[in-house]
Amino acid sequence: MSDLSPHHKALLDWYDAHRRSLPWRYAPGRPADPYRVWLSEIMLQQTTVAAVVPYFLGFVQRWPTVEALAAAPLEAVLEAWAGLGYYARARNLHACARAINLDHGGRFPSDLAALRALPGIGDYTAAAIRAIAFDQPAVVVDGNIERIMSRLARIEAPLPKAKPAIKAEAAQRAPASRCGDYAQALMDLGATVCLPKSPRCAACPLAFECLALRDGGPELAGSYPRKQAKAAKPTRQGAALWLLDHQGRVFVRRRPETGLLASMLEIPSTEWSSQAISAPDWLGLNWQRWPGEVRHTFTHFHLTLTLFSARLPRRGGDTLQTRLSGELDARWVRPDLLAELGLPTLMRKIAIAAELARKDER
Ligand code: ADE
Repeated sequence: MSDLSPHHKALLDWYDAHRRSLPWRYAPGRPADPYRVWLSEIMLQQTTVAAVVPYFLGFVQRWPTVEALAAAPLEAVLEAWAGLGYYARARNLHACARAINLDHGGRFPSDLAALRALPGIGDYTAAAIRAIAFDQPAVVVDGNIERIMSRLARIEAPLPKAKPAIKAEAAQRAPASRCGDYAQALMDLGATVCLPKSPRCAACPLAFECLALRDGGPELAGSYPRKQAKAAKPTRQGAALWLLDHQGRVFVRRRPETGLLASMLEIPSTEWSSQAISAPDWLGLNWQRWPGEVRHTFTHFHLTLTLFSARLPRRGGDTLQTRLSGELDARWVRPDLLAELGLPTLMRKIAIAAELARKDER
């Protein structure tokens, strides 16, 4: 292709020699499967490639097509997703699979507006699917590409204010051919060469045109994109409630359909608030404080949970157990079987802390 600009030629030659082999990528020259491209892009939002690969393989083995995923119960999808975090993505994934089946005859659209209208698909994901799955022109800008563009053009404005300038820079360079390879080449360059802290400028195919490198070497290049100082995250506290029945099984239920960790299974806890925690009074039981704390960070706050444990009493325990069976998807589970349930990471941490505390007690 002789009409390629020096930028495109340098990047695509580099990609042809150094592309990462990833399970959702197709062999050079082979058409991409939009289902696999879409699934990988949803999983990769806010998550690293290394964390995504085993989940991706598990999903495509269990649900090889969008029809199969659409036919699966939501609970099965949430359980298979457990541990990947940001669970709204899993609910949207399922809703999107159903919409593709019902409204699009089982085929992903290639049009940006039609893609954007689907659950869980924003500007970035629509552009990525259009470029990678359909090889159609689109301006794909993720965090890696933001970093590359801000260095190439030496954009001084801090993020997030710099986003329009970065997008304009990316739009100006977006190619008319090999659109999917180009987008993925930038992603790979960002992941392996144009690194956040110590960019490997000596190995970079775009070094010849990088303004930040020209003006100040790798050290200056590494200082882009400029960032607005972030507000510190607040810390909330609560008590995790490890409730055992007479057989030593622990009480688990499903969380409500809205809010954090919506519809995921949970070990109950008291409200997560900025107040210091006090002894729980749930069910009028005698809660023992166990050693150890569980720490977890959500998008907008850190959470510290203190562990409390109680056993259903001999007398009146049956009544309590009946009352608890009215909770959403209530179950009593042997602690050693909790790992098989598909608990979100926070709940797995609680289970591990409880296991440690129980060993300490013996
Ligand atoms: N990050 C987001 N999408 C990606 C892709 N298709 N390849 C590699 N890294 C990615």
